[in-house]
Amino acid sequence: MNLEYLSGFGNEFASEALPGALPVGQNSPQQAPYGLYTELFSGTAFTMVRSEARRTWLYRIQPSANHPAFSKLERQLAGGPLGAVTPNRLRWNPLDIPAEPTDFIDGLVGMVANSGSEKPSGISIHHYCANRSMERVFFNADGELLIVPEQGRLRIATELGVLDVEPLEIVVLPRGLKFRVELLDAQARGYVAENHGAPLRLPDLGPIGSNGLANPRDFLTPVAHYEDLKQPTTLVQKFLGELWACELDHSPLNVVAWHGNNVPYKYDLRRFNTIGTVSFDHPDPSIFTVLTSPTSVHGLANLDFVIFPPRWMVAENTFRPPWFHRNLMNEYMGLIQGAYDAKAEGFLPGGASLHSCMSAHGPDGETCTKAINVELAPHKIDNTMAFMFETSQVLRPTRFALDCPQLQPAYDACWASLPVTFNPNRR
Ligand SMILES: [Fe+2]
Repeated sequence: MNLEYLSGFGNEFASEALPGALPVGQNSPQQAPYGLYTELFSGTAFTMVRSEARRTWLYRIQPSANHPAFSKLERQLAGGPLGAVTPNRLRWNPLDIPAEPTDFIDGLVGMVANSGSEKPSGISIHHYCANRSMERVFFNADGELLIVPEQGRLRIATELGVLDVEPLEIVVLPRGLKFRVELLDAQARGYVAENHGAPLRLPDLGPIGSNGLANPRDFLTPVAHYEDLKQPTTLVQKFLGELWACELDHSPLNVVAWHGNNVPYKYDLRRFNTIGTVSFDHPDPSIFTVLTSPTSVHGLANLDFVIFPPRWMVAENTFRPPWFHRNLMNEYMGLIQGAYDAKAEGFLPGGASLHSCMSAHGPDGETCTKAINVELAPHKIDNTMAFMFETSQVLRPTRFALDCPQLQPAYDACWASLPVTFNPNRR
């Protein structure tokens, strides 16, 4: 299957899988072309300011309304309810990929969250491990999904078209969009940030200017593609944190044409234009922001998706690793490949760490000692891709995250080897 994409971010795209399927000059004619039904898919309130509004018009074989009642599924999302509050720094080894047949829905494991799914802000973070393609179709009523593959390529068939995504790419699926995740390799593992707040968008660039970081043309949205299948299909939705399902007699991925800006998209992290210092010190890690979900407080993010890509380090007379710090924001980190420059060991691809509001962190003892003593020369940090989901509200781990064997019992020890180098007689 040769996939086609439309390029840009936030555009009013238009796509049709049959010529002339999109009505011309109006959205909802009495009779849509080819006998299709018209449906409006709204990602923001009708009255949202135009610059923020997200909506797409769909022209489909059957309207979504044609479904029987949903019943609550016996098998709910893994991870369980939130556990005890903790200010401690936490770090996890990667989750094992299960031996029993597990699709993307069964393989989602809740790790941390800072909001109930019914709230219009906050995030929930899941990991996924899967070893077979979904045969069912899923949508999430609780928020937008940002999927970060770490292992295995995915083919994501959505209502608006099909996207292929591989490790070092990400995909964003709007709240409510129906999709099916198929595995293109034997197994798949990665991370999911569920954004209950304002949809993700590109950050403003301020003095950087009109180019840089993630450039709009590198975001890819699929072209229209439909399934005209009269076969039993299970449609699963997540609604207020719980899974519900109903049986359809057709594929719900039956949109023949669409136009709008409430769309899925993917982005290749290798295309990120990384910006850093060419003199001394290094900028705050916000310089690495790919996408952001703002809150109503200007400059305070509900979710920042930040990456630490390969880059040259050239700062003179500078402690080059991420500095020691304590942050208002809450940082959930993951690793897609290689090693992260602030940690010598213990932080593995597929693993994660949580540093909550005001928890002190920074490079571990080994990395710090090396950085203080190294002779500085330009060098490239290569073969790496760490990332951070950063959020303004404290994240609480699930009971699973606190009880699982992947939780490292001695994470604090990585800072215990920091030597005392203070000497009042040596300035
Ligand atoms: Fe940090």
